[in-house]
Amino acid sequence: MCLINDVLHADLPDEPPWRSDHVREYLAVNMPEERRLMWFAEDDAGTAADGGKVLGSASLLLVGGQTGVLDLFVRADARRQGIARELLNAVAWRANAERRRTLTVEVIGGTPGVRFYEACGFHRTLVEVRHVLTLEHVHWPRTEQIAGQLANGYRVEYLPGGPPEEMLEPYARAKLMLRHLPGDDFDIDRMVSIEANRLRASLSTLRRRGMRSYVVVVTHDATRQVAGLTELVVPAHRPERADQYDTLVVQAHRGYGLGLAMKARMLMAMRDDEPQIRDVVTWQTLEMEQMARVNSVLGFVPDREWYEYEADVPELLAHLSS
Ligand SMILES: CC(C)(COP(=O)(O)OP(=O)(O)OC[C@H]1O[C@@H](n2cnc3c(N)ncnc32)[C@H](O)[C@@H]1OP(=O)(O)O)[C@@H](O)C(=O)NCCC(=O)NCCS
Repeated sequence: MCLINDVLHADLPDEPPWRSDHVREYLAVNMPEERRLMWFAEDDAGTAADGGKVLGSASLLLVGGQTGVLDLFVRADARRQGIARELLNAVAWRANAERRRTLTVEVIGGTPGVRFYEACGFHRTLVEVRHVLTLEHVHWPRTEQIAGQLANGYRVEYLPGGPPEEMLEPYARAKLMLRHLPGDDFDIDRMVSIEANRLRASLSTLRRRGMRSYVVVVTHDATRQVAGLTELVVPAHRPERADQYDTLVVQAHRGYGLGLAMKARMLMAMRDDEPQIRDVVTWQTLEMEQMARVNSVLGFVPDREWYEYEADVPELLAHLSS
């Protein structure tokens, strides 16, 4: 935690620091099919347990398929000595032994990570812009009004802890419908129970990691289908900042202001249930025009760019040994 807070202080001094609440669980608990491996670089005084200092850490999250997700941090006073490169080398060998073809990493614009990963041969695959809503700047009477303006034929529900068991399948269906493109042979009916199981596991994992989930759902009265949903998570180790997870409105229900009403309802609920929250962050790609409109009406402002970088594991190993 000292390492993370040192790195935050050096690279992103406006970010809220981590607290010790549930940090162990946050780092150690994964989804059932995932595994996380970690490496630490310590100074000459020995291990952290006998008084040495942790200079850097790397983590490799083995998700399904052939991909590994990387995280790497080096203390500000220990940089440019090759520590990250050495950690990356260890990660790449292990990823290779675990038959991972690709390593991906999230890199924050304006931090030294950009030049480090480019120097190591990673390439950029996604650009998103993080948007921040500072609750102090929210116009609450207007937000309350937006939250109350729900189109006829729809019902809104606030669900702390996530969707209950009986709603998991309609909820899963709404999520799947977003991934379904006209003309593909995606069998939603067959996928619903698999997706519901995945959601059940994900909610339980979030809970065990000390991440409090909140969901607002809009149901269509006539069909009883989930027409839209928005998800927010408050981590115990950093409770001043809430992370916006998915927000979606199923295609047939777009154009009725449901996205805006759901997000406004969520903000109203957070003001009561998580009063320590200072801001909410969300990520947008440049293509997400409708979501951009919703976010700007509520007062989200662009903050900084976030990138996803990727490397082919055999190429990375060759690069690191050259
Ligand atoms: C990115 C990071 C891991 C690099 O750690 P490091 O130990 O300093 O990296 P290395 O010494 O192994 O650097 C290897 C190569 O990467 C490149 N590189 C690393 N940092 C660089 C920088 N600031 N500017 C330009 N190139 C850089 C160089 O080519 C370097 O080789 P060189 O020193 O021989 O020129 C470190 O800066 C860090 O922890 N950054 C914060 C990560 C982060 O995500 N922060 C925000 C969220 S908490």
